[in-house]
Amino acid sequence: KRNGKVAILGASGGIGQPMSLLMKQSPLVSELSLYDIVHTPGVAADLSHIDTPAKVKAYNGPDQLRDSLKGCQVILIPAGVPRKPGMTRDDLFNTNASIVRDLAQAAAEVAPKAFIAIISNPVNSTVPIASEVLKKAGVYDPKRVFGVTTLDIVRANAFIAEAKGLNPQDVSVPVIGGHSGVTIIPLISQAKPSVSFPEDKLKALTVRIQEAGTEVVKAKAGAGSATLSMAYAGARFGMSLLRGLKGEKVVECTFVQSSEVSGVSYFSTPVVLGKNGLEKNLGLGTLSPFEKQLLEQAIPELQKNIKKGEDFVNKK
Ligand code: APR
Repeated sequence: KRNGKVAILGASGGIGQPMSLLMKQSPLVSELSLYDIVHTPGVAADLSHIDTPAKVKAYNGPDQLRDSLKGCQVILIPAGVPRKPGMTRDDLFNTNASIVRDLAQAAAEVAPKAFIAIISNPVNSTVPIASEVLKKAGVYDPKRVFGVTTLDIVRANAFIAEAKGLNPQDVSVPVIGGHSGVTIIPLISQAKPSVSFPEDKLKALTVRIQEAGTEVVKAKAGAGSATLSMAYAGARFGMSLLRGLKGEKVVECTFVQSSEVSGVSYFSTPVVLGKNGLEKNLGLGTLSPFEKQLLEQAIPELQKNIKKGEDFVNKK
C-alpha cells in the first residue's frame, strides 16, 4: 500500500504546481504529499478532484514539513526562488542554499531511505549541500541523492529533433556534467539516431542547449524561469525513480556523487536506476574532440560550485 508515496517540497510554486499535476496523473503514484510554506491546501483541494487513484494531501508551513515526509519513497524538491533576467543560477545560492539544507535535514530525520531529487538551483551546489547534511546526520547514501538535469536532455532532444526534422520522441541525446552554463555538456556525437552537423551549427546548438534556461528567463521578462518544461522534466525523473523502485531498469542522466571524472566529486552521466536508486553509472562514453574541450571548460566551474555547497554546510 505504501508503494509510490511521493513528497513534493515547494509544491505551490511555478514548477511545483504543474509537476504535482503530472505526478497526480501517474499510475505509479499512490500518494502525493504536497509541502510548501504557503498555499498547499488550495493546490491539494484542486488536484484531489482529479479522478486518478493518487491520494493528495496538503502540508503547509514548517511545522508540517516532517509529517509531509513520513513514509515517502521519493522526495522531489523544487522549493526556492527562481532567476530574474540578468541572474545566473549561482546568484540564487544565498537564498536556496539554506532552503535545501533545511529540507534535507528534515528528510534525514524522517525519511532517511527516500530517494531525494533536487531541482532547486544552483543544482551543482544544492546537491553537495543536501549530501553534506545527510552525511552529518549519518544517513548519507550516494545512490539516493540526485540532481535533476533531465530538462537539459529534454531540451537537447527537442532542439536536435527540430534541426533534423525528426520526431523528438525518437531522439535521445545524453547531456553530462552539471546543470548551469558551461558545465552543461551535450554529447551530440552520442545522439540516437546518430546525427551530424557542420562545425558552426554544432557549436550554436551546444550553446543553445547550455543557455536554454536563460532563453526562457529572458522571454518571461521578470516573471520567473522555466516552470512548465521543468515540471515535465522533473515529473519524468520522478517517475523514472518510481519505475526503478518497482524493479525496472531505467536509464536517466543525473547529477550524482561520482568518480567518473578525476577531481570532480559530483558529475552527471547516464546511470541505471533500480530498486536501490543508482544501480550503475554508465560513464561518459567516447567524447569527440569538441566535447573534450567542453569537459575541460566545465571542470573548474564544477569544482568551484561543488566546493561552495560543501563549504556552506561545513561553515568554512
Ligand atoms: N520550503 C518549502 N517551500 C519553499 C520554501 C521553503 N523553505 N521557500 C520557498 N518555497 C516555495 C515558495 O513558497 C514557492 O511556492 O518554493 C516555491 C518556489 O516557486 P517559484 O517561486 O514559482 O519558483 P519556481 O519557478 O518553481 O523555481 C523554484 O527551481 O528550477 C529551480 O531555479 C529554480 O531554484 C528555483 C526553483
